Amino acid sequence: MPGLTAPSSYSQEPPRHPILQINSKEPFNAEPPRSALISSYVTPVDFFYKRNHGPIPIVDDIESYYVSICGLIENSKDLFMRDIRMLPKYNITATLQCAGNRRTAMSNVRTVKGVGWDVSAIGNAVWSGAKLADVLELVGIPNLTSVTRSGGKHVEFVSIDKCKEENGGPYKASIPLSQATNPEADVLLAYEMNGEPLNRDHGYPLRVVVPGVIGARSVKWLDTINILAEECQGFFMQKDYKMFPPSVNWDNINWKSRRPLMDFPVQCVICSLEDVNVMKPGKAKVSGYAVSGGGRGIERVDISVDGGKNWVEASRCQKTGFPYIADHMSSDKWAWVFFEVIIDIPHSTQIVAKAVDTAANVQPESVETIWNLRGVLNTSWHRVQVRVGHSNM
Ligand code: MTE
Repeated sequence: MPGLTAPSSYSQEPPRHPILQINSKEPFNAEPPRSALISSYVTPVDFFYKRNHGPIPIVDDIESYYVSICGLIENSKDLFMRDIRMLPKYNITATLQCAGNRRTAMSNVRTVKGVGWDVSAIGNAVWSGAKLADVLELVGIPNLTSVTRSGGKHVEFVSIDKCKEENGGPYKASIPLSQATNPEADVLLAYEMNGEPLNRDHGYPLRVVVPGVIGARSVKWLDTINILAEECQGFFMQKDYKMFPPSVNWDNINWKSRRPLMDFPVQCVICSLEDVNVMKPGKAKVSGYAVSGGGRGIERVDISVDGGKNWVEASRCQKTGFPYIADHMSSDKWAWVFFEVIIDIPHSTQIVAKAVDTAANVQPESVETIWNLRGVLNTSWHRVQVRVGHSNM
């Protein structure tokens, strides 16, 4: 495409904030320290985790950039940025979470394959752009369509970046047409993040944002939208980002036996404490984030100071000064919730957090029971150790 280049080497990467902890340099994968993650409800772009599978593309001529919409539709169409900007602009606050968040903790149980992530492969941003449902209307697909007249049931997003997993081809993913054409699903073609044009790392000039769904489906650097009869056959839909039972290993895996991951499950993480902490006896603040997929709110966050025997409930909030009410109109339904409780820590112990979403889904107790060879969806109770010393430390 004119104006758009996908470099095959990593020599022209954008600058990044030094606060980021780098998990892999090429491709660039990095996350902020957990304490920085909860310093604001809307994550600053610089602190937002960056998850890439290839070198970052360069768009140097925005005037000639366009997205092609083709496949099982009557008339294909090329949309330039000015066409997309003409559609109503929506601002959606949505949390993006990589399915590999907390993978490092899963790999401590048994080796898994994939980039190691601590607890910050997640961030909350205000995404602005056109609704995909409006864009699809432009090519003759009405709202709330599950199948087009020519049999299209899935919407594939093809990027410009080149990945080795796709044998040098572009990154791609798909979502069901019923979700893409549902205005309430808030799927965006976003050109802004936190009120600024997207930067290169996050998909400049245009990316998909699929709220409530694992980050892998929010394709960056959008090149083509394809209406397909079957879901996308790309590597990241068919041979990755699937969850297998603990019994499946690399010798007996049957990729076809599982569906691609979509909605993420309920998750919560303590961010005010590290994995191991040394402190004096007394009061301590336990705070962090909780989030669930599919637009479900957070009903409760429970904290234990004795490894999970007794629990107290943490307070929850999104915007300071406003009470958070799960699944209420006043809440950001696609966004995380911060929790906080002050607790007394008299002696060395394990502090645990678990969240419950509005469908009464609860996080699993142990990581062992959900271990899987790709290390995805570690949503087990989050545990941190506290060593309390009584002497002058
Ligand atoms: N889109 C493209 N084109 N290439 C990618 O490597 N990574 C995906 C998704 N979209 C990816 C992509 C994954 S796995 C995640 S978790 C999110 O982008 C991360 O988005 P971010 O880097 O803006 O945080």
